Amino acid sequence: MKDKYLYIETFGCQMNVHDSEQMALLLADMGYALTDNAQKADLILINGCSIRDKAEHKAFSQLGRLIRLKQKNHDLIVGFGGCLAQHLGRKVYSRVRGVDLVFGTHNIHRLPEMIAACQQARKKITRTDFSSKITSLNIFAPPPRGSISAFVSIMQGCDNYCAYCVVPYLRGPEMSRTPEDIIDEIKKLVQHGVKEVTLLGQNVNSYGRKLNEACNFVSLIKKINDIDGLERIRFTTSHPKDLSDELIDCFAGVPKLCEHIHMAVQSGSNRILKLMNRGYTAEDFLEKVEKLRRVCPHVSITSDIIVGFPGETEQDYQATIELMEKIRFDLLFSFKYSARIGTAAQNLPDDVPKDKKNRRLKDLQDLQNKHTQEKHTALEGSIQEVLVEGRSKNSAQDMMGRARSWKIVNFNGGLELVGKLVNVEITRGYLHSLRGNMKEI
Ligand code: SAH
Ligand code: SF4
Ligand code: F3S
Repeated sequence: MKDKYLYIETFGCQMNVHDSEQMALLLADMGYALTDNAQKADLILINGCSIRDKAEHKAFSQLGRLIRLKQKNHDLIVGFGGCLAQHLGRKVYSRVRGVDLVFGTHNIHRLPEMIAACQQARKKITRTDFSSKITSLNIFAPPPRGSISAFVSIMQGCDNYCAYCVVPYLRGPEMSRTPEDIIDEIKKLVQHGVKEVTLLGQNVNSYGRKLNEACNFVSLIKKINDIDGLERIRFTTSHPKDLSDELIDCFAGVPKLCEHIHMAVQSGSNRILKLMNRGYTAEDFLEKVEKLRRVCPHVSITSDIIVGFPGETEQDYQATIELMEKIRFDLLFSFKYSARIGTAAQNLPDDVPKDKKNRRLKDLQDLQNKHTQEKHTALEGSIQEVLVEGRSKNSAQDMMGRARSWKIVNFNGGLELVGKLVNVEITRGYLHSLRGNMKEI
């Protein structure tokens, strides 16, 4: 029998990346081998993101390019999935001609059945219904060979309904996986050589809220800490309103938990935070940061900010800048507001002019670069524990790994170090990475 090849292109966040891994695994059972050459593919899947207008455009322009391969290969099947497919449903067919299947975020587990039906009847198949239970997170995706670090979804969906955000409509209500399933998956990953897991959820702090058993995020982390062979635990992302003192204490009391937290602030203006339906003030956020730093002085704090939310005045924007000056994040992901269909903010006028959004974003990014550089320079001379992941992208003689703070560290060393924890003395702090010399193990 002829080998069958699958080409997947993924856009968006780690959840989508993780979903794509699960798709590949399910389709491997149908005889599809992954290829990174779309020309060779019998099946092409685009896993799109809909968080901002720009993300949507990227996925569609790629779909437009790939669909042309059908002119040469008449048997090629092209599927469009993920958050963007959930958002658009059958409308995908009219935007790009030739798409064979459209599958939403709760229908990944049905892909084999959809593809089989498509092969038999060559008719369009659409599945975008929501399920009342977790449908695909329990599929175990073995990590690619040699992976040291892996993502583990501990929950799906979101109940927060931040005014700008489309995720609750695309991923459905929040549902947590059972601690047993999660621990079982991590143990399997460790057997495959994984040393570090990142627990994924839109708001991991509310993990377990709807489970029958008494288990919250803190008790889950403590259970994971007991898994033999696992070296490090990370998680993303944390909603500031739900960050508990118990979780903050874990940064001092749970040895495998790395000293890094990603916690999106979105704005420093209380008026805007209220309009965004975030459920905290700038003062509340600052207080959480202070607590974190009291418990764990070296904790690395990263965040997300949106500029140009409807009605954002120069004064609101300055409040964001002031908060950034007070906190000094280690790293920041910043975005221009983009109105999304169906969200509460869509009813507000998107009234910050484009050039103002651009200027605010640029100034904020310049300020953040200054803060990040200062933080990295301050680390020169320090010793960082690094989990070695592989060869450095910059130089064939160098290895790369991450410090507990999530910062990238490059240093001289050989491939035998992959998967090991080493101590590196930092000699230079750059904007995007640190460089250093390995001390003896
Ligand atoms: N659940 C995560 C966020 C996931 S989306 C959390 O709450 O931390 C990632 C980021 O995209 C958000 O934190 C926000 O900064 C940004 N974002 C979401 N919707 C947006 C929109 N409509 N326009 C611009 N940025 C947006
Ligand atoms: Fe979106 Fe808010 Fe949920 Fe994050 S917490 S996914 S920003 S609705
Ligand atoms: Fe992620 Fe984009 Fe969906 S950010 S949850 S893939 S809309």
